[in-house]
Amino acid sequence: MSGQHTLPDLPYSYDALEPFISRQIMELHHKKHHQTYVNALNAAEAAYAKSSTPKERIALQAALKFNGGGHINHSLFWKNLAPAASEKKGHGGNLHDGPLKAAIEQAFGSLENLKKEFNTATLGIQGSGWGWLGLNPTTKRLEILTTPNQDPLLTHVPIIGVDIWEHAFYLQYLNVKADYLNAIWHVIDFQEAEKRLTESAKL
Ligand SMILES: [Fe+2]
Repeated sequence: MSGQHTLPDLPYSYDALEPFISRQIMELHHKKHHQTYVNALNAAEAAYAKSSTPKERIALQAALKFNGGGHINHSLFWKNLAPAASEKKGHGGNLHDGPLKAAIEQAFGSLENLKKEFNTATLGIQGSGWGWLGLNPTTKRLEILTTPNQDPLLTHVPIIGVDIWEHAFYLQYLNVKADYLNAIWHVIDFQEAEKRLTESAKL
């Protein structure tokens, strides 16, 4: 069905994140999984617009949250990945000197320490969910957070989000979530993360 929300194009080709995330995963994840969230969000919003009673609207809350969160989270996720510098394909994984590096060092001591703490917290999610590096809007410090299912990060400004649903890694990493989480740092787009950080400072 047609609707208000559409699947955003990836800012790189499906095989651009190899060998860290396979073409097969990227294609299915984008074309099938994300598209499904978009379609279901449009359907839920259309049903909500046509609803006439509180009961009907309450019944749509779960679908709006799940599919709306799925659309928001995946739209952020594609943009916080980039082809790997370690493969000479792009700037993924490279953290240059600047405000993001300074904020990471202030909060975690080093990038290596952030990765370690982020991976430990994200591995601790029971079932499906997301790992986040977020900016606390009150303290203006970076913090590591997790959300279950497709819940978007609402308490903090999302700087980096990592999908830890099985559909994000299983075809390549099977049950070894830790290998997926170690690999993904090679394709994290720290330039995009820094942009989110500096834009949030203007809020
Ligand atoms: Fe996903």
